[in-house]
Amino acid sequence: MTDRLKVAVLVSGHGSNLQALIDACQKPGFPAQIVRVISNVKEAFGIQRASRAGIPHSVIDHLNFENRTDFEARLNGELESCNAELVCLAGFMRLLTGSFVEKWYGRLVNIHPSLLPAFKGLDTHARALAAGVKIAGCTIHYVSRDMDAGPIIAQAAVPVMPNDNEDILAARVLKQEHVIFPMALKMIAEKRVKITDGCVRIDGTSLDDDVIVSPTLN
Ligand code: GRF
Repeated sequence: MTDRLKVAVLVSGHGSNLQALIDACQKPGFPAQIVRVISNVKEAFGIQRASRAGIPHSVIDHLNFENRTDFEARLNGELESCNAELVCLAGFMRLLTGSFVEKWYGRLVNIHPSLLPAFKGLDTHARALAAGVKIAGCTIHYVSRDMDAGPIIAQAAVPVMPNDNEDILAARVLKQEHVIFPMALKMIAEKRVKITDGCVRIDGTSLDDDVIVSPTLN
């Protein structure tokens, strides 16, 4: 397949979402390929995952730059040099400026470990537990100028159990992140995802009208 969507993945840490994307892209017929992995953290395990998979990778350490603009100029240069058509933020822990986001708008997606618009920002699981929500989850969304506020592409919901702590809930959510990120990438690569009036419409998806209830009566 020659016309696979060229994807760059940005990471800062463990890279389990990157791994889910690598695994998906290695499946025969998957409509996207990862052309570059970039980390802003030298020690990020995600870089080793890229190396193991034979994917070109680089570290652009933000600490080596005077300001965000210089850092992003370098980042942008790398993304353009590998002809990235889509940029996936997969645990990339660096806020991007409005001008970078505008430049890549519609070609820049992020994964966030909550059911947006609830719990934007950090420590989502601790805040979800403190709020006593009964359903948690994760979101894939386009990145816009406002943090964690861009058009939502896909979400997965999981129940919050009575004895959950932050780590247990995070693990349950993370498992679903690994499902919906490749799924969203596939739909984008198939050009089925459109942003209209700030919301995403997806061609040809089937929806299950079952209600999700937590807790359930039994
Ligand atoms: C994930 O929970 C993701 O939603 C958040 O950071 C975490 C990254 O995990 N943005 P990993 O590096 O993909 O394992």
